[in-house]
Amino acid sequence: MAMAKRFLNFTQGWTFTAGSNPHSNLGSNTMIQKHRILVCKMLIWVAALSPGAWLVAGLFLNWLGANPVETLTHITGMTTLVLLLVTLSVTPLRRITGWNVAIRLRRPLGLFAFFYALIHFNIWFVFDQVFNWRWMVEDIIERPYITVGFSAFVTLIPLALTSTKGWMRRLGIRWTKIHRGIYLATTLGVIHYYWLVKADVRLPLLLAFCLSVLLIYRIPGWLEKRRRTIARSHGSDVS
Ligand code: HEM
Repeated sequence: MAMAKRFLNFTQGWTFTAGSNPHSNLGSNTMIQKHRILVCKMLIWVAALSPGAWLVAGLFLNWLGANPVETLTHITGMTTLVLLLVTLSVTPLRRITGWNVAIRLRRPLGLFAFFYALIHFNIWFVFDQVFNWRWMVEDIIERPYITVGFSAFVTLIPLALTSTKGWMRRLGIRWTKIHRGIYLATTLGVIHYYWLVKADVRLPLLLAFCLSVLLIYRIPGWLEKRRRTIARSHGSDVS
């Protein structure tokens, strides 16, 4: 149904000749935006599902190397981290290009990040901990990089659960606050990666640099928002 509606909307965009549609300019601009978002979402689906498809094919065709569990952990962990960073890149992209509807790409990107984190966690739970809850708790307590990785994963859970429009409406301003958890989750993810790498720390450092740039970029906006909130509360004090 939604797909048919989208198709109808899109078809309308190119079947009306310029000027024949009373809302032509407004309508075709909206149509172009919708079409762009649809294309971007399709690209996100293809790109985000590719590592998973590659792993599933590798399991069946036996190309995951001598230690398939290590390969599974590596690919799912890296994909989670990269997707979290890409999710954080949407806001700067939106501000720099002025392409505001790009905000709609954040949800699928964030959910795919969570999807890979869930698989990554389960690989560890199934193959390392063999479904043993006691061992699991012990490992989380004893190995700091597991503690940090697990905390990152737990931080992402409420974000994934409340990612729908319904929850957004219900939670109001609290939704934005809860979803700031992505900064913490990504930071913990980077620390987790840095901590577990034994020799060559260049890649974790590069990812830490990317995260720093994405966070520093937001600081002026946060300060400005804070300044406005303080000014508004002073204003209401005076009145
Ligand atoms: C947002 C959450 C997480 C992110 C972004 C993340 C990311 C990563 C990355 C990038 C790697 C390195 C892959 C490699 O180069 O081999 C990794 C490895 C690993 N992660 Fe995570 N991870 C997360 C959560 C977790 C959780 C919840 C657990 C288990 C409780 C976990 C357990 C592991 C293990 C056991 C390894 C392999 C360590 C080794 O090679 O010795 N991670 N993770």
